[in-house]
Amino acid sequence: MGKLYSFILLLTWLTLSVAVNPGLKLRVTQKGLDCANDVGKIFLQNYVKSLPIPNISGEENVRGKLSYDITDIQIEDLTINESSLTVVPDAGIQMFIKNSKATINSNCKVDHWMLKAREKLVVELSGVSIKANFKISQNDAGIPTFSLDSCQSDIKNVEVKLHKAMEVVAKMFNDKLEDYIRKTLNERLCPALTEESKKWDAKLSSYHFRSKVDDFVELDYHLVTSPVFTEKYIDVDIKGTFYAIKNHKEPTFAPVPFSLPDQSDAMLYTGVSASVVNSAAEAYYTSGVLSHTLTDNEISELTKAVLGISEKPSEPLPVTVKIAASKPPTVTLRPNNMTVEVAGLIELSTKGSNSPSQSMISASMAASISADLGIAEANSMLRVSGSLTLNSFAVQITSKDKDSKFSDMEKALQDFIQEKGVPFVNEKLKSGLIFQNSEYFPLVNPVFHTYQDFMLLSSDIACSNPRS
Ligand SMILES: *[C@@H]1O[C@H](CO)[C@@H](O)[C@H](O)[C@H]1NC(C)=O
Ligand SMILES: *[C@@H]1O[C@H](CO)[C@@H](O)[C@H](O)[C@H]1NC(C)=O
Ligand SMILES: *[C@@H]1O[C@H](CO)[C@@H](O)[C@H](O)[C@H]1NC(C)=O
Repeated sequence: MGKLYSFILLLTWLTLSVAVNPGLKLRVTQKGLDCANDVGKIFLQNYVKSLPIPNISGEENVRGKLSYDITDIQIEDLTINESSLTVVPDAGIQMFIKNSKATINSNCKVDHWMLKAREKLVVELSGVSIKANFKISQNDAGIPTFSLDSCQSDIKNVEVKLHKAMEVVAKMFNDKLEDYIRKTLNERLCPALTEESKKWDAKLSSYHFRSKVDDFVELDYHLVTSPVFTEKYIDVDIKGTFYAIKNHKEPTFAPVPFSLPDQSDAMLYTGVSASVVNSAAEAYYTSGVLSHTLTDNEISELTKAVLGISEKPSEPLPVTVKIAASKPPTVTLRPNNMTVEVAGLIELSTKGSNSPSQSMISASMAASISADLGIAEANSMLRVSGSLTLNSFAVQITSKDKDSKFSDMEKALQDFIQEKGVPFVNEKLKSGLIFQNSEYFPLVNPVFHTYQDFMLLSSDIACSNPRS
C-alpha cells in the first residue's frame, strides 16, 4: 500500500514538474522602461493628487499637552522633476523619483492650554525623493504578484505657511515645526506606498488572465513562470493558448520551447510560437466556424474579382457552394518562412426550391502556402503586406459517380488557382492590409520576422515624451 502511494506521489510529482512551455514571450527592454517611465510620471502626478489622504491626528508634549487634528489634506500641486524605472536583476523594478515638489493644503485644529485654533495649513515640500523596489513574481495560478520590496524616502525642504494665530504653535516647537512635519510626512511616505502597492496587487489578482476574442474563441494569457529580470531586460513567459468557448479542450500539441534572440534595441519584443497560431486555428475549427456557404452575392463578387465577369445574377443562383476546412489549418514557422497547410472540402449542390438540395460535385483539396509578410506603420495605421507562394495544391473530386471527365476538371481547378487565384491574392497583398494602430500602445517602427518555430514582432511604442 505504501509503495503504491509513493508511486502515485512520484507520478504526480513528475507530471507537475513537466514545465509548461510558454506560447508567448514578451520582452521589455530598458528603452521600454524609459517609455513606461514617461507615461508613468504623468499618471503618477495625477494619481497622487486624486488620492484620498487620511486625517492625521496626534499629541505632543510642548510645554503641556498639545493635540492636533489635520484634516481635508489635499495635494494641490505635484511636480515630479526627475524619475526613472530600471531593472533590478533577479528581483523586479526600481522606481526612483528625485527632486519633486508638492504643495499640500489642509485644515489644522490645535488644542493646547495656551491656544485653541483652527486654521488653514499650507505646506510646501521640495527635494522629495523616493526609491522603491517592487518585486514582481507569479503565484501558483499563474497570476502576476506585485509587492513593495524596499523603500526609502527623503524630504529635503519643508516650508509651512501659517496664519498669525498658529505662529504661537510654531514658536512652541522652538522653530522645529518644519523638521517635525518633514519627519512625520517622511515616515508616512513608504507605508503609504506599501498600502497602494497592496491595492495594485489585489487588482491584479482579481483580473482574469483570459479574454474573449470573439463569440467563438478566447485567449488564455496566464504567466507560465515568474518574470525574469536581467541587466538588459524583463522577460515574461505567457501561456498564450486559444480555446473554443463552447468546447474548452487543450490543444492536441504543446508549444515547442523557443528563446528570443539576444536583442534589446527596441522597446518591446513579442515572440509568438507557432503553437499559439495553431491553437487559434484548432479553436476556430472546433467551433465550426471554418465552414462557409457562399452567398449569391459572394459568388458573383468572386467571379467578378477573379475572372473579370461582372454579371450580377438577376435571379437566385441554382447552386450553392460550401467551403469547409476538413481539419484545422496548420502553420509551420522556419527561418524566413511561414507556411500554412490547409485541407478542405468544396461542395456544389443544386438549390431546389421544392426538392431538397442535392450534392452535384464534392471535392477535397489540400494546399501548402508560404507567406512572406512585412509590417509597417504610418499615420496611426499599420500596414501588413507581402506575398504568397503556392507550394502545392491538390484537388480531388470525391463525388460518388466520379467519371473520367472529372480528372480534367481537377487539372483545370489546379491551373486556375495557380494562374488566377494566387496572383489575385498577391495583388491585394502588395498594396497591403491596413489596420488601425493600437490606441493605447501605438506601435512605432514595427519589424516582423520568422524564426524556427516562432515569429517575432519587435517594436517601439509612441511615448508621450520619447527619448531617443
Ligand atoms: C477627516 O476629518 C474631517 C473633519 O473632521 C471629516 O469630515 C472626514 O470624514 C475625516 N476623514 C476621514 C477619512 O476620516
Ligand atoms: C529639476 O532638478 C534640477 C536639478 O536639481 C534643477 O536644476 C531644476 O531646476 C529642477 N526643475 C524643476 C522644474 O524643479
Ligand atoms: C518554405 O517552406 C515550405 C515547406 O517546408 C517549402 O515548401 C517552401 O519551398 C519554402 N519556401 C521558401 C521560400 O523557402
